[in-house]
Amino acid sequence: MYLLFRPLLFLLPAEAAHLLGMFFLRQLGRLGFLVEWLRARTLRKGGVIEVLGPVQRPEPQRDLSVRLGTLKLVHPVALAAGLDKDGEALDGLFALGFSAVEVGTVTPLPQPGNPRPRLFRIPQQRALINRMGFNNHGMDAMARSLQRQAWRPGLVGVNIGKNKDTPLADATADYLRSVDRLARLADYVVVNLSSPNTPGLRQLQQPEHLSALLKAVRERMDVVAPGRSLFMKFAPDLSPEDIDTLVDVAVAERLEGLVATNTTLARPSPGPLSGEAGGLSGAPLKALSTQALRRAAQRAQGRLALVGVGGIFTPEDVYEKLRAGASVVQLYTGLIYNGPGVVSDLLRGLSALLARDGLSRLQDAVGRDVAARPETVKGQSNPS
Ligand code: FNR
Repeated sequence: MYLLFRPLLFLLPAEAAHLLGMFFLRQLGRLGFLVEWLRARTLRKGGVIEVLGPVQRPEPQRDLSVRLGTLKLVHPVALAAGLDKDGEALDGLFALGFSAVEVGTVTPLPQPGNPRPRLFRIPQQRALINRMGFNNHGMDAMARSLQRQAWRPGLVGVNIGKNKDTPLADATADYLRSVDRLARLADYVVVNLSSPNTPGLRQLQQPEHLSALLKAVRERMDVVAPGRSLFMKFAPDLSPEDIDTLVDVAVAERLEGLVATNTTLARPSPGPLSGEAGGLSGAPLKALSTQALRRAAQRAQGRLALVGVGGIFTPEDVYEKLRAGASVVQLYTGLIYNGPGVVSDLLRGLSALLARDGLSRLQDAVGRDVAARPETVKGQSNPS
């Protein structure tokens, strides 16, 4: 159905199509009972039954539920940050079946982002390039949206960033303001240090900034939202050694895990739009982001929960990320190209892959391709 409608949608400039999609998702979210019905239907089609009350008994099925550190999810397919920057369409997005929705990136103050055009489709490559620049209505508007939409059939993550005008030296204060305002309203918080579209932001991933920033955020979370999970989202363009360092810092600063990865500045397959500045997402990002995920998993050896993001379109793509160490996957570009049926399609395919491999629980597939490294002892910082 979506594939029939997509050529029309793609006649619109990419950002106009995005705004139209968001409009529909907001309207969908207002449909009350229908939203719950739609979600239940999507999950049933995907082979997942959410137990909503005593009358619903799960049928025999493969168990697609997963654990992300201390968090439990009904299945592993979640929405990546950046689609719903202000948390305005949570209900509509849950209706599509996602097990978790990450909203943001939100900054303390509202900001307009970069001038348009700033979002480009590359259909031949199933890719997007964006240089949105954290356009959002600010943390207060996000807090109001999250409070207004109280339905929580899945997890809500809030992805936080710094305002463009905040000097790098004061970045920590921006993150703390958003934690103060939003952490209690979410199941988990993601510190975004990896957008390529806020000048200098990615420098904060370097060790001289990273420890202090994450320590401050963790300590503030312990005070304002004790027990809430904290993640950091990193760039696929880091070197393997930088990823190792990042894992060590994340463990030392008691993060629950990492989100691997954001968009890339690389252009693995040059094409007509590859000269556009911004972050590349979708199919050409997949190998790079999975490689970064695998490196993080190898280094973490189970000490961090990992979220795999980048280039997910098929059940095989999900399975590959899970086997490479992710407990949960997120997607954005896959939703644009595959449409709103993407979650149930992926889940159905995952059940088939589990059956092929003789597994009854998806959780058992997590990290299967990550080799144990006997030389990596817990707490040891330099195994290589
Ligand atoms: C993003 N992404 C993103 N990530 C983030 O942490 N904060 C953000 O605000 C945004 N904004 C954003 C806008 C647009 C238009 C796109 C396409 C992407 C990155 C996104 O969450 C994800 O990490 C990458 O897009 C890779 O996943 P996909 O798209 O290949 O599934």
